Order: sequence, then C-alpha cells, then structure tokens
Amino acid sequence: MLFEKHERVIDGQRYLRLCKSSTVVHRHGTHVYVDIETDLALFRVGEKVVAYTNICPHKREATIAQGNVMNNTVTCPMHGWCFDLDTGKNVGVGAGLKRYDVLDRDGYVWLAIPEE
Ligand code: FES
Repeated sequence: MLFEKHERVIDGQRYLRLCKSSTVVHRHGTHVYVDIETDLALFRVGEKVVAYTNICPHKREATIAQGNVMNNTVTCPMHGWCFDLDTGKNVGVGAGLKRYDVLDRDGYVWLAIPEE
C-alpha cells in the first residue's frame, strides 16, 4: 500500500496517518510499510483495528499481513506459526508479534508516534 506521510495530534499524542479505515477489513491483513523499522500488518478485530509487525519472528519474513485470518488468529503463510490477534502472542511455541498502538478515528487509522 502506498504511504503518504501525514501527522496529527490527537488528545495530546502525535500520530502518523497510515491508511483509510475502510481498507482494513475482517479476515484479511492490510500491509502498510512506513519505513525500514516500521513494517506493519493491520487487522480488524471486531470493531477495532490492531497493528502488529509484518515481520514473522520465525524466519524474519515480511509475511504476516498475507497470513490466513481465522478464529481471531493470523497464521504465517511460510511455515504456519500462528498468533493471537488480541495479544500478538504465539499460539504455539515461539516468539510473538510486536504490537503497535493505533487509533481508528475520522475515517483513518493512525499510528501513535512514541515520544523521544
Ligand atoms: S517465517 Fe513465519 S512461520 Fe516461518
């Protein structure tokens, strides 16, 4: 997905606009590449949007957004590691996914920018 940099302050927190909310749908991941350190996989869980790293901790493949979404989990298409979409924890054995703080507001998904 193309990424157009746009920042905004919401409730005192700086956010970076990631994509339109409507592009994040149930049962599919949405890939947003911000920069080399922030490669994201977005998912819609119920009414909320959650964001995790797109990099699978197994072999460091950028595949999580392409994973199979089922029963509130996403399964990496490479070797089948499976992650809980509420927590990012590995459902089996192994590392989980890093979670990012996002906000679904005014028709867009926003990524919280950590204070330096
Ligand atoms: S790279 Fe994801 S399970 Fe192996």
